[in-house]
Amino acid sequence: MKALILSGGKGTRLRPLTYTGAKQLVPVANKPILWYGIEGIVAAGITDIGIIISPETGAEVKAKTGEGDRFGAKITYILQEQPAGLAHAVKVAQPFLGDSPFIMYLGDNLIQDGLEQFLDKFTQQDLDALILLRSVKNPSAFGVAEVAEDGRIVRLIEKPQQPPSDLALVGVYFFSPVIHHAIANIQPSTRGELEITDAIQYLIDQQRQVQATQLLGWWLDTGKKDDLLAANQIILDSYVNPQIVGEIDAQSQVSGRVAIGEGSQLINCTVRGPVIIGQNCHLENCFIGPYSSIADKVTLIDTDIDHSVILQGARVVNIHQRIVDSVIGRNASLTVHPRRPKALRFMVGDDCQIELA
Ligand code: G1P
Repeated sequence: MKALILSGGKGTRLRPLTYTGAKQLVPVANKPILWYGIEGIVAAGITDIGIIISPETGAEVKAKTGEGDRFGAKITYILQEQPAGLAHAVKVAQPFLGDSPFIMYLGDNLIQDGLEQFLDKFTQQDLDALILLRSVKNPSAFGVAEVAEDGRIVRLIEKPQQPPSDLALVGVYFFSPVIHHAIANIQPSTRGELEITDAIQYLIDQQRQVQATQLLGWWLDTGKKDDLLAANQIILDSYVNPQIVGEIDAQSQVSGRVAIGEGSQLINCTVRGPVIIGQNCHLENCFIGPYSSIADKVTLIDTDIDHSVILQGARVVNIHQRIVDSVIGRNASLTVHPRRPKALRFMVGDDCQIELA
């Protein structure tokens, strides 16, 4: 069994963060989203992992993630020149996959359930494809399954305007090598991509063994800001190891589950967990509320933050109004001058969103 993780794409919905980096490397609780997927795959006993990368962000994904040693895996990087669809990515990865069955995992998806149970079902029942479904509020944004009363899948449709059900296709699939034959027999969709949904539909039409299982645990597709904040909240709730390595002065108060990394310094701050603070940060006269993730080398002075994600090297100074539900990009700087500002002065990049609420 091998695994194929897709980590290409343009990440248009997470702009501006994705102008300067891969969406799969955006951190959730200070760890790249992609790494949760790798860890889940390794936990299921699969260590031969291919990662699809794009020309734009491939080098960054590779440099950050490495050859797999840190995960106990062997990682092979596979370049997909064009974002021509998920099935196209499988086609490009064919030399790596060979005749092996494999898990295909979309690098910006996070699921609560372990993969072992699905892998067992897939191998024990000798399936050609096992897909995971999850009931969602906005099925039109996903691939959607029409399921018969006996649980059989009747039809799969990509981003339907009138969804036949609320069951979305989760970005985790199990395939036998027969999928390559299906992919060779489908045509690009109206959006010009070779859709994996169409390849699975081909298997269904050919009476192949295709089954679906419903996910009951949470599933997050972290491609958008609110999903990213939701993922951050869930991961901080479930995984933060309270561990304080950095320095906290006598005037600071820390309560709840809080992790503070090496070389970080807190002066006169109140921190209410769950919160994670990376390495070499400087926090002074701040309130840091629950569900905040602060990456390495961040400076926060005279600032209140709650339910937000602050990326590496950002600097926020003198913002006494509470910053909530926010994502602040790498090396961004937000400052209010000490005396009440008479004017607002911005240098805001493309696709940024600023709300003075
Ligand atoms: C892709 C698939 C879609 C699936 C979704 C899950 O969509 O095409 O069927 O439901 O991933 O994340 P994309 O996110 O590439 O638009």
